[in-house]
Amino acid sequence: MNPAPNITLIGPMGAGKSSVGRRIASRFGLRFVDADRHLEQATGTTIPVIFECEGEAGFRKRESEILDELLQQTGLLIATGGGAVLSAENREKLSQRSFVIYLRITVEEQLVRLSRDTQRPLLKSSDRKQTLEKMAEIRNPLYEQTADMVFDSGSASISHAIRRLTASLQVRWRPLEKL
Ligand code: S3P
Repeated sequence: MNPAPNITLIGPMGAGKSSVGRRIASRFGLRFVDADRHLEQATGTTIPVIFECEGEAGFRKRESEILDELLQQTGLLIATGGGAVLSAENREKLSQRSFVIYLRITVEEQLVRLSRDTQRPLLKSSDRKQTLEKMAEIRNPLYEQTADMVFDSGSASISHAIRRLTASLQVRWRPLEKL
């Protein structure tokens, strides 16, 4: 059992953080927040436009601010962006303020799930496989070191993943009394 005021989902693009998160949140009576959508609402613009105008560094700064704001609350299930773990400060806050679940997926599975994606700025390269492999090399150890629980989300259907994850969470996590 690991009590925490919130649950966060971390993991690479295409791992299912939003689709799984939304349904897990409703099962556990938590409010679901997708950090990227929250950032878009707060700024009134889109992630691709933020990347275009402010570069990745500008986006990361905004991403950290939004994460900090969300993690000060309680009772949330937060789906983070795939690069949120790049910042040591973000990793520390995630660990302090949430039960962190790493949704793990292979690059091959990512390529299938993201094959129709045109929105993610970091996927606009000519060699997606190489881009995703390079990201995985840097980020996978960070996901692992931040996670309270690792969950393989790639191969199974979403509904099967949700059933398994619900069962694991029932034994591994409970909300803080103050929720
Ligand atoms: C990013 C992942 C995206 C989004 C942005 C950058 C990343 O979120 O935050 O495009 O660095 O991996 P998803 O993981 O929800 O796709």
